[in-house]
Amino acid sequence: MERKKFYITTPIYYPSDKLHIGHTYCTVATDAMARYKRLTGCDVMFLTGTDEHGQKIETKAREAGITPQQFVDNIVEGEKGVKDLWKLMNISNDRFIRTTDKYHEKAVQRIFRKMYDNGDIYKGSYKGKYCTPCESFWTESQLVDGKCPDCGRPVQDAEEEAYFFRLSKYADRVRHLLEDTDFLQPKSRVNEMVNNFIKPGLEDLCVSRTSFTWGVPVDFDPGHVVYVWVDALFNYMTALGYENDAHDDLRKYWPADVHIVGKEIVRFHSIIWPAMLMSVGEPLPKHVYGHGWLVFNGGKMSKSLGNVVDPYLLAERYGVDTLRFFLLRTFPFGADGNFSNELLINTINVDLANCLGNLVSRTTAMVEKYFGGTLPTEREDSDGDCELKTMAATLRDRYEAEMEKLQFQNALAEIFKVLDRANKYIDENAPWVLAKDEAKKIRLATVMYNLLETVRICTTLLQPFMPESCEKIFAAIGACECCRGWDKANVWGSLRADVTVTKGEALFPRIDAEKELQELAAIQEAQKKAALPNLEVEPLTEENVDFDTFCQCDMRAVKIKACEPVKKSDKLLKFTLDDGTGTDRIILSGIHKFYEPEQLIGKTAVAIVNLPPRKMMGIPSCGMLLSAVHKEKGEEKLHLLLVDDSIPAGAKLG
Ligand code: MSP
Repeated sequence: MERKKFYITTPIYYPSDKLHIGHTYCTVATDAMARYKRLTGCDVMFLTGTDEHGQKIETKAREAGITPQQFVDNIVEGEKGVKDLWKLMNISNDRFIRTTDKYHEKAVQRIFRKMYDNGDIYKGSYKGKYCTPCESFWTESQLVDGKCPDCGRPVQDAEEEAYFFRLSKYADRVRHLLEDTDFLQPKSRVNEMVNNFIKPGLEDLCVSRTSFTWGVPVDFDPGHVVYVWVDALFNYMTALGYENDAHDDLRKYWPADVHIVGKEIVRFHSIIWPAMLMSVGEPLPKHVYGHGWLVFNGGKMSKSLGNVVDPYLLAERYGVDTLRFFLLRTFPFGADGNFSNELLINTINVDLANCLGNLVSRTTAMVEKYFGGTLPTEREDSDGDCELKTMAATLRDRYEAEMEKLQFQNALAEIFKVLDRANKYIDENAPWVLAKDEAKKIRLATVMYNLLETVRICTTLLQPFMPESCEKIFAAIGACECCRGWDKANVWGSLRADVTVTKGEALFPRIDAEKELQELAAIQEAQKKAALPNLEVEPLTEENVDFDTFCQCDMRAVKIKACEPVKKSDKLLKFTLDDGTGTDRIILSGIHKFYEPEQLIGKTAVAIVNLPPRKMMGIPSCGMLLSAVHKEKGEEKLHLLLVDDSIPAGAKLG
């Protein structure tokens, strides 16, 4: 019989920065689904990759002084890059596409031309707001306080020639797809799309850019590059061989069974993507699943906020399987989840150490202790065994129902109900009491077998989540290859009667939560600091000051005759200055954090002397000393402006 095909994808990631726990969440979830489908016997194609074009990458590469290709190569292929992370996380993708792969770029050119030839792409002009320093077009709604959302500078009205895709033509068909089919899941995302985008009216989409060059060139109109989302979305098909001959399994796997995507890119996948597929006459993916975000303290993770959680740190500290498990056990897949270290440590202790780990180690230890590791084959059932046996034997169905809906959290909850029940079963049967009575040996063996069988069934179903740990558990409970499969997960009694166990090392050691949380917070704080820019200076003021206004500022060289802290103030230093007039000038300056008085006495500084006097802590300050400020690793630094001591007091600066 031919195996059922299953094609599943993650979004292809922007390699503009290192990936964080949010990206890891999305990929681990997709991986669990792919592994689950393989477990059930499907012929799975699992695709992931990177989306490498666009202005953001071009700008970042320029800032780093390297070519865009070098920039993306570093983040995708380099140390601790995207590919390294997926390897570490044990991601079982069958294929990895980079949109800079030549076969993909050529295919995108053909696709663009196809839509141009069929009249769905036409040339028009794009009106918007332009930020000259950033070389970026923005729509009115993208502006922040009327200014460029990237740099905050003023924008100008501008118009550029561009190609447009006739998205409006497909509005009715897309609406029908969203409202009348189960194409987009969960259902709540449908309302978001229809209310926010379809009902207000779909406008044609600008699908080319001329303001930067890092993209797939429109081959029939030099100067235009293909809009990054057109380029990116078609990855799902070019990776299988659409419009190229680098691969040839398009007809085998397309249409995709499900595209897993984060909520903010549901619009691209559920409106623009189907419309483009309609245009090129290809079948639509069966489903798009829009999952929620992992947020940190309620806010979006972002490098600039310094709150990104590093998957490397967590995987190295707690293990890859533990991290995979935590991500899918803790957060409902369709909704946002609030990441916290407390949740992580708690999940490790409650589910992995106390429940699963403890069950496996207690059971194998008892089989070793009471039977030398191998069970005798006789059994003596009791009515009390029924509940556990039935729960375990019927678990597969409940699990399957949840997995088919991508409800990983619920699927795992079903497994843990059975594991909890098994732990309770140990206490109810008190094997240590049975072991004392030779006449109860067979009953004891039965209890042990029931526990091992329960562990086997649960482990079979845990494989998509924790592949390596499950191998270890199977080895510990003596489950041979032939009883680890899906077909045996609902068959009670598959483990051989005279099974031999091998107690290994503790799989999931318990963590001292208080100590661990402190250490983890300290490491994360250090990481946050290290991620801050080394040096940061304020952006230059764009607005000009007229020359006469500038000249009104009277700047003089001043000699520091005396300097002392101001009483009851942590910040202020009181300077007694020779400004060349013969009368001492007093200036107060809030720089005690940066200098001790003795470092400054005798030095020549610069003061603005015609500011109106200002009282601070009751002392009038007559002017202002100039200093230079910047940030280093987020920390404010200040240098009092000191000039050559040969400059006489009172010399005018300008
Ligand atoms: N390049 C596009 C996707 C193109 S697909 C044809 C893109 N890339 S991305 O790197 O910005 O995001 C990739 C995926 O990671 C998205 O689905 C996004 O939702 C997901 N996540 C990024 N941060 C996330 C969280 N904090 N939490 C969960 N998922 C998040 O979009």
